[in-house]
Amino acid sequence: MTLNISPNDLGHVIEADRANVWHHLSQHKAYETINPRIYIEGKGLKVWDALGNEYLDAVSGGVWTVNVGYGRESIANAVRDQLVKLNYFAGAAGTIPGALFAEKLIEKMPGMSRVYYSNSGSEANEKVYKMVRQIAHRHHGGKKWKILFRERDYHGTTIATLATSGQPQRAAQYGPFPDGFISVPHCLEYRKQWDVENYGERAANAIEEVILREGPDTVGCIVLEPVTAGGGVIVPPKGYWERVQQICEKYQVLLHIDEVVCGVGRTGKWFGYQQYGVKPDFVTMAKGVASGYAAISCTVTTERVFDMFKDDASDPMSYFRDISTFGGCTAGPVAALENMRIIEEENLLENTVLMGERCLKNLEALKAKHNVVGDVRGLGLFLGAELVADRKTKEPIDEKRVQAVVADCLKQGVIIGATNRSLDGLNNTLCLSPALIATANDIDRITDVIDRALTNVFG
Ligand SMILES: Cc1ncc(COP(=O)(O)O)c(C=O)c1O
Repeated sequence: MTLNISPNDLGHVIEADRANVWHHLSQHKAYETINPRIYIEGKGLKVWDALGNEYLDAVSGGVWTVNVGYGRESIANAVRDQLVKLNYFAGAAGTIPGALFAEKLIEKMPGMSRVYYSNSGSEANEKVYKMVRQIAHRHHGGKKWKILFRERDYHGTTIATLATSGQPQRAAQYGPFPDGFISVPHCLEYRKQWDVENYGERAANAIEEVILREGPDTVGCIVLEPVTAGGGVIVPPKGYWERVQQICEKYQVLLHIDEVVCGVGRTGKWFGYQQYGVKPDFVTMAKGVASGYAAISCTVTTERVFDMFKDDASDPMSYFRDISTFGGCTAGPVAALENMRIIEEENLLENTVLMGERCLKNLEALKAKHNVVGDVRGLGLFLGAELVADRKTKEPIDEKRVQAVVADCLKQGVIIGATNRSLDGLNNTLCLSPALIATANDIDRITDVIDRALTNVFG
């Protein structure tokens, strides 16, 4: 069965959606009077909805995912061919795409060596938490079981990953949470917590303070986004990562980098941590790994971590006793292989750097023109503009007006994003993450549309 829906049947699709689909992050009362938006086609950076409207998608499928753009036949063909050959086998065995993608991925990640497959960013992160706990049990006599996370970061939607949510609104109403997940201060200099010159180092030192407070022998790991995404597109200040690395080494705290958003090109390098010369113990990734053509996530470790799970083959409990059913789907790694080939062949990392610089420059111009733009920041094609009611006090703009800007852009045919339901009173950052194939014209159109939207909403 192929789903060739004629334009006349789209009304039925909208009604079926309204009657039966529960959308994520959505208050459904509104759909009693307005139609849910249904996207039916995409090509490059463009998508079309069921009413025939065309949009330029500046957020890669809403949540920074479709890195190589829509309508990639070569990925679809690779997935199709693999599915008819072998669609699945459980991860205790290997498959051709699983082995080959792991090899290719590790080539891009010097120092890392093992890939554990699952199918969402949350799950990939939760695997690390389980590994850290198992290492604590087996190698630290039950100590070093705590996992630190940072204010404003996000690591997933399950109960354990929400326990590491630095975004209180995401976690609210879903507790109680498991023990041993401890927050450290954020590093956003624009909303500074210390009046010092070397802000990066100071913000990292706050991690050391938490480790000392909790007791270094209780802390096993820290999870950090290289550049915080949904918490407001936070590019860490100079000196931050160097100091984080030193602190982790000093207290033997494993470093888990959550690359679910930054991974596979978004910042202009294969991985965000590679911008900073960091040496992680765990790296997790999902969204852009296969650009949404298939569900895949990876938990990548060093050989040192891996070795801790095979040191005693005579003990039946000494290995990582985890299972991810859909980690055995072959569509994910085969799509990921082709996705990576496209990024290489089309020089998309280089394009991301160039277009990212252009976009940041355009956003700087918007800041010069509109008082409401308090701060702009970004790395590669991963950018944000924080809106404030008053530049001096930095009082955030009300979330409703931020959403009005997003809605105005949509009306003009460009889909942008904004932080939402993350931090009380601080859901005030417009977010951009166009596909890595964006051209100069695409970038200029996106920022021109935001320019007009800011004028329309704020005058
Ligand atoms: C940094 C980060 N980590 C983890 C996740 C969770 O990924 P998923 O929604 O695939 O479970 C997200 C999702 O937005 C994310 O932004």
